[in-house]
Amino acid sequence: MTTPVRKLIAGNWKMNGLGVDLLETERLSKALTAEPAHCRVALCPPATLIERMVRELKGGPVEIGGQDCRAEASGAFTGDISAEMLRDAGAHLVILGHSERRTLHHETDVDVAAKVGAALRAALEPVICVGETLAQRKSGDALSVVVRQLRESLPALLAGHRFAVAYEPVWAIGSGLTPTLAEIEEMHRAIRETLEASFAGSGAPILYGGSVKPDNAAQILAVKEVGGALVGGASLKAADFLEIIRAA
Ligand code: 13P
Repeated sequence: MTTPVRKLIAGNWKMNGLGVDLLETERLSKALTAEPAHCRVALCPPATLIERMVRELKGGPVEIGGQDCRAEASGAFTGDISAEMLRDAGAHLVILGHSERRTLHHETDVDVAAKVGAALRAALEPVICVGETLAQRKSGDALSVVVRQLRESLPALLAGHRFAVAYEPVWAIGSGLTPTLAEIEEMHRAIRETLEASFAGSGAPILYGGSVKPDNAAQILAVKEVGGALVGGASLKAADFLEIIRAA
């Protein structure tokens, strides 16, 4: 099995953040610039902030990403954003298939796979999210649900491209709850085996997401096959996010 060397710590701001919050980001970038770069750090702000964040953090260690994109490159899709537009704004990554998109926007695995294709077309690194609901965890179906989601969300054309997978149990997001370390390890192993079966040797990092906080980050990030974290709420405050990054 291939374990990637540098972990990826990515912040998902979701629908949070105004221009004034870029002060926090600058603080984060300055602090990281003064430290050895032991891991990759990314921030995915709302689309309205991408270009400004890219400009203000230029030359620093923080990579910038989007939170979603549409599969088409352009067209009559009011309110949507394409991968090409994210790239044009200066983004290098994009989160795809987040459970909030799957639930609130009814995105299917097929939709997610098409978006992954769009990300690659625009030279963006996709961060592909999968995760089970609490009912699926309780009924003992978590592994099979996540493995199926993953297989169907990853187009074959991913081979040879840089990408990441984020395991985010739906019930752990914003709840303060997390799976046990053994459950995280079991799931990440299953994801690694699934990736190896289709994309042998890709070394794609498998991030854990769902209530990652300064006080649990070190434990979670030390679990075998945890190649980083996708952080929601705790990525909004530079001090908290920095603590998580330092724990990697
Ligand atoms: P929280 O860290 O707020 O639980 O959110 C996790 C998440 O959904 C990141 O994409």
